[in-house]
Amino acid sequence: MVKMLQCLVVLVSLVVSVHGLDNGLALTPPMGWMSWERFRCNIDCKNQPNDCIGEKLFMDMADRMVEDGFKDAGYEYVNIDDCWASKERDSAGKLQADPDRFPSGIKKLADYVHSRGLKLGIYNDFGTKTCGGYPGSLGHLEVDAKTFAEWGVDMLKMDGCYADVKTMPQGYPNMTKALNATGRPILFSCSWPDYERASKIQPDYKLIAKNCNIWRNYIDIQDSWDSVLKIIDYYAQEQDTLAAVSAPGSFNDPDMLIIGDFSLSVEQAKAQMAMWSILAAPMLMSNDLRTISPEFREILLNKEVIQINQDPSGKMGKRVMQSGNVEVWSRELGFLDEYALAFLNRGTEGTPLNFTVQLKDLGLRPGIYFLIEIFEDKDIDDFDTDSYFSTVITPNGVSFIHAYPSQFYNSV
Ligand code: GLA
Repeated sequence: MVKMLQCLVVLVSLVVSVHGLDNGLALTPPMGWMSWERFRCNIDCKNQPNDCIGEKLFMDMADRMVEDGFKDAGYEYVNIDDCWASKERDSAGKLQADPDRFPSGIKKLADYVHSRGLKLGIYNDFGTKTCGGYPGSLGHLEVDAKTFAEWGVDMLKMDGCYADVKTMPQGYPNMTKALNATGRPILFSCSWPDYERASKIQPDYKLIAKNCNIWRNYIDIQDSWDSVLKIIDYYAQEQDTLAAVSAPGSFNDPDMLIIGDFSLSVEQAKAQMAMWSILAAPMLMSNDLRTISPEFREILLNKEVIQINQDPSGKMGKRVMQSGNVEVWSRELGFLDEYALAFLNRGTEGTPLNFTVQLKDLGLRPGIYFLIEIFEDKDIDDFDTDSYFSTVITPNGVSFIHAYPSQFYNSV
């Protein structure tokens, strides 16, 4: 039944227009892996050959993505972040990879990633230097776009260090044009609104959504629950502005998934996964897929959570209730009164909390719903929006509910 329902949703989605950058990419939030949060700017390949920013790391991650089920679950992009480049451009003025750490070059790496059925992402900077001090693209936008296209790159994250923020609303769209002019579809991730926010300039999100497939708008995620909560708070504070521009082709990016790293507990990891799905956020893991524990892998591969994240409507959810330590977030899914509800318990009292609410108070259209507690894999049939719904939420955890309209659910 759920399959048929999904088919219908996909069919309906085909007639929905794309509002974002019109390069046909990111019709749902991109999924993949990105080096920065976990591997940073470790360039010491002599002493740490497995953990440094070099071709081996990206080949290893591509292998793990294919062999451990991530590719099948929808994770697709293998993204190189900062510190990949040589400190100097070549004699023709082109960016080049560090020859010691990427002895085969980026084109060969892209070929390898493609041969595994995946896509390759890369990083540059709008200013004179990247945040890590490598050559920036200012004055070289066209040549860099061409170089990336020639290499077979499929996604570009363009950062905004060492740049004049006031020139970004004009400059980033120039890169959009340069990328489009290459004829290669390259998913464009912009950091422009984050730099505007930091300079107290209100980002023009309509312009941003026209020029970028995804965009960072807040500080970098760190390996801590505190950092995850800070980002969630920012999204709550700006939810009306941010939700208005979330659509197929254009998504807000609250930064990488840190599931399976050093800090998050299993319950916190479920919470990040659920919240990123509610936010229609890119699912870019930054972790070590070679050593990740099975319980975190399972969370990252949870089919139903991914299905919610990838909902074709592209809508971003919002916080709809705050009560004590509990926040309830709701995302409308599909086109037929379907919802995802995340009950987030920010409390630290060491026992699960029983939370009761009437679903009608969470903005669900009145009616009867079929509810699934996703992480518990528990179903509740025929639940009325007027009845009292109770759910148990662990401290620093989430109860994640998928609500289907019952009438429709039963008739397919
Ligand atoms: C900035 C970005 C990060 C990362 C680093 C690399 O801080 O926001 O995501 O790309 O630069 O130096």
